[in-house]
Amino acid sequence: MDPLNRREYRIAPSILSADFARLGDEVEHVLAAGADFIHFDVMDNHYVPNLTIGPMVCKALRPHAVRPDGDPAVIDVHLMVKPVDRIVPDFAEAGADIISFHPEASDHIDRTLGLIREHGCKAGLVFNPATPLTYLDYVMDRVDLVLIMSVNPGFGGQSFIDEALVKVADARKRIDAYAAASGRTIMLEVDGGVKADNIAAIARAGACTFVAGSAVFGSRDADCGYHGVMNKLREALAAA
Ligand code: DX5
Ligand code: ZN
Repeated sequence: MDPLNRREYRIAPSILSADFARLGDEVEHVLAAGADFIHFDVMDNHYVPNLTIGPMVCKALRPHAVRPDGDPAVIDVHLMVKPVDRIVPDFAEAGADIISFHPEASDHIDRTLGLIREHGCKAGLVFNPATPLTYLDYVMDRVDLVLIMSVNPGFGGQSFIDEALVKVADARKRIDAYAAASGRTIMLEVDGGVKADNIAAIARAGACTFVAGSAVFGSRDADCGYHGVMNKLREALAAA
């Protein structure tokens, strides 16, 4: 296997596009179809102009987030909230595995990264389309995941911004250089407008984890649920 884990691809359906009246079932069905992570978008109508779900819903979904082999599935919390720190312990308590935040939303980025890890979670930094990767410069040791936004945050169903591929490639270089020096791998995730027809290009740019909301939850098949769309995404990745 590639020592830097670059080929260990993970698909993270965003439940933002799921049926909110049946969230537990939606999580179970998408995991049955082979999802690796459950991507959990938290919006506060302040940092972003939309309002979604919080720690209570995370806690309610935790028992439903089980992989077909019986292991717990990773709940990948994407915080689009400001301030950040107040809500971090609540998500850790609610069963989040990864907690990512936008550097512009925290007054003390290093402190927030430390807070997330102190609560036993992996810490992620999220980069909006116009946010420079320089926020990573002095904190690589405290980052477990880099999330590149390929849309402006706030809504599902937007179109992929192609410039994000350049940023993914830049982030891949930083992560590989850091891995070579430290022996530690950092996940590289992409979020927004990911579909079966662009996922291979995103993988070739260097991403290993792919958030897909509308592409997955907009493709439910009456007979086989989400297997069809998940297989399509996997096939496209296999050809990358
Ligand atoms: C946008 C969210 C995304 C969103 C992706 O702010 O962070 O996770 O759900 O949805 P699609 O895949 O439909 O662009
Ligand atoms: Zn997201």
